[in-house]
Amino acid sequence: MRILLTGSKGQLGTCLKERFPEEWEIIACDSQTLDITDTQNVFNMVKKFDPDVIINAAAYTKVDAAETNIDQAFAVNATGTLNLAIAARAIGARFIHVSTEQVFDGKVRMPLNENMAPNPLNVYGQSKLAGEILALNAHVDTTIVRTSWVYSEHGHNFVKVMLKKGLETPNMRVVKDQIGCPTYAGDLAEAIIRLLKLKYSPRGLLHFAGNQQMSWADFAQQIFSLAAEKNERYRQVNVESICTADYQCAAKRPVYGILDNSTLQNLIEEQIVFTPLSNIIDKLLT
Ligand SMILES: NC(=O)c1ccc[n+]([C@@H]2O[C@H](COP(=O)([O-])OP(=O)(O)OC[C@H]3O[C@@H](n4cnc5c(N)ncnc54)[C@H](OP(=O)(O)O)[C@@H]3O)[C@@H](O)[C@H]2O)c1
Repeated sequence: MRILLTGSKGQLGTCLKERFPEEWEIIACDSQTLDITDTQNVFNMVKKFDPDVIINAAAYTKVDAAETNIDQAFAVNATGTLNLAIAARAIGARFIHVSTEQVFDGKVRMPLNENMAPNPLNVYGQSKLAGEILALNAHVDTTIVRTSWVYSEHGHNFVKVMLKKGLETPNMRVVKDQIGCPTYAGDLAEAIIRLLKLKYSPRGLLHFAGNQQMSWADFAQQIFSLAAEKNERYRQVNVESICTADYQCAAKRPVYGILDNSTLQNLIEEQIVFTPLSNIIDKLLT
């Protein structure tokens, strides 16, 4: 199988590169080698490499900055996604795209399945929803995997921020009234690879997230408890649970973002064995 991967230096892109089967041919493009907003370059690259599958791991992921950088968020998450979907259609390739639980408003407090109506609260969610709709309309052989709260040993994420700030300040104020499922990018990569190994290509929307639901404050607490086993200094960190209303940030976020994984889990032959958070903390602190 020949795969063209975009956003190859992001969290998911890096985890995919580390996990692709050796026999697959991978053309890994980062934002320098392939800017997905550059329509002509996207078409040239796709035509040149003629992949069987295009995986889009590129995205504008700065949720708060998107509130003011609206054009950039839409250029990458909507137009860039459309460029890739049209290019995939032109050469008869599958298109695998990744989206977010932030397309939902969080008002329905039950695990969110693929049939539930989206209603994003912020620009990032709106731009990702636009990308979903454009891709699904442009190319029938599109699979979109929505995920949530992605972390890994690579790139920028909540776990790395907590580990850094925990050594700088003894009191961490973290919100307790937003609930989601932290997702290890390696597990998400594994789920995507298993979808690619199926004999047919499931089309449309699928949900995949980690298997433990928690608030950001709970997540921070778990991070510091595990980190304290590696470095005594983390024992002194106090997590102060606060309400969203008491935490200033530009973008509104859904208070509930638990994705129901069951459709994807039923499709793949082997169930995903979720990676414990402790493995990632170990990697980051060793
Ligand atoms: N992170 C989360 O918590 C989260 C939650 C739910 C869903 N998701 C979705 O999961 C997917 C993977 O997220 P991630 O956490 O791996 O993201 P990430 O670490 O921020 O990586 C995104 C990558 O996209 C690249 N990129 C940005 N603009 C680009 C452009 N115009 N052309 C090509 N590449 C571009 C970035 O490169 P530069 O760094 O060089 O700009 C970066 O390497 C995304 O679709 C995201 O929306 C993420």
